[in-house]
Amino acid sequence: MNITAHRGVSSLAPENTLTAFRLAPQYGCEWIEIDVQLSQDLIPVVIHDQTVNRCTNGSGKVADMTLTQLKKLDAGLWFSEQYRGEKIPTLHETLKLVQALGCRVNIELKVYPQDDVAQLCAEVAKVIDEAKLPTDQLLFSSFDRQALQLMQRCLPQIRRGQLWQSIPPKALEELDSIEAYSVHCDYRFLLPEQAQQMKQAGYQLYCYTANFPELVEQHWDWGVNMMISDRPQAYQPVINQVC
Ligand code: G3P
Ligand code: MG
Repeated sequence: MNITAHRGVSSLAPENTLTAFRLAPQYGCEWIEIDVQLSQDLIPVVIHDQTVNRCTNGSGKVADMTLTQLKKLDAGLWFSEQYRGEKIPTLHETLKLVQALGCRVNIELKVYPQDDVAQLCAEVAKVIDEAKLPTDQLLFSSFDRQALQLMQRCLPQIRRGQLWQSIPPKALEELDSIEAYSVHCDYRFLLPEQAQQMKQAGYQLYCYTANFPELVEQHWDWGVNMMISDRPQAYQPVINQVC
C-alpha cells in the first residue's frame, strides 16, 4: 500500500501519538511518518512543532523541557476529549510499537534554528541502534541536508530521503551527495518534468501532504511512488478497486 500515514493517521487521532500510529495498519498503511526532535535532556521525542503549544495543554519550547516535563503534558485533549491522557511518545516507544505492529517508519529529523543537528543525529542513532529493527523498516527524512549527511555517516545502512518543498535545480547533485534513496516534495509544486527526472535517475518519489486523492491523480501517472497523507482513509475506495 503506497500511502504513508503522516504523523500517524492524524486526521482521526492526535498527530504523532501512539494511538495515531496504531491506526495506520487498520487503514492499510505499511508506513508511518513521524517528526523527531530532542528534549532538553537529550531524549529523542516525537512531536512536530518547535513548541508544545499547539498539540498539548502546555506551553514552551520542546528543547527547553525535560522528558519528565514533556510526559506530564496531555497530547490528546487538543484534538478531542476522547483522547485525553495521550502522551508525547519517545522515539524508543515509537520503535517498540513499530516492531509490534510490523509496520515501517519514516523518521523525519526536525531541525529548528539553534538546534544542534549533530547532537540530534547522535541521540537518534543511539535509539535506533538499541531498537535493532531491520533496516528496511526504517527511512530517515529531513529538510536539513546536514542531518542526512550525518545519518549517512553513522548509520549508512538506513535509507535516506531528502525533503524539499519543491525540487531545486541542483537536486541530482545534492541527492548524490547523500546517496539518497528517495525524494519527498510537496505535491502542489511537483512538475511532471521534475518527476520524470527523478524517476529516470532512479529515486523513489514521495509527495506530501496529499489529503485529497482527486488532487493527485496525475501524480501517480507521473511516477510518484508514495503519498504521505493525514487521510489514508480517503484512499481506501481507490485501493479496494485496485486490489
Ligand atoms: O514528511 C513529509 C512532511 O512531514 C514534511 O513536512 O512539516 O509535515 O513535517 P511536515
Ligand atoms: Mg514531518
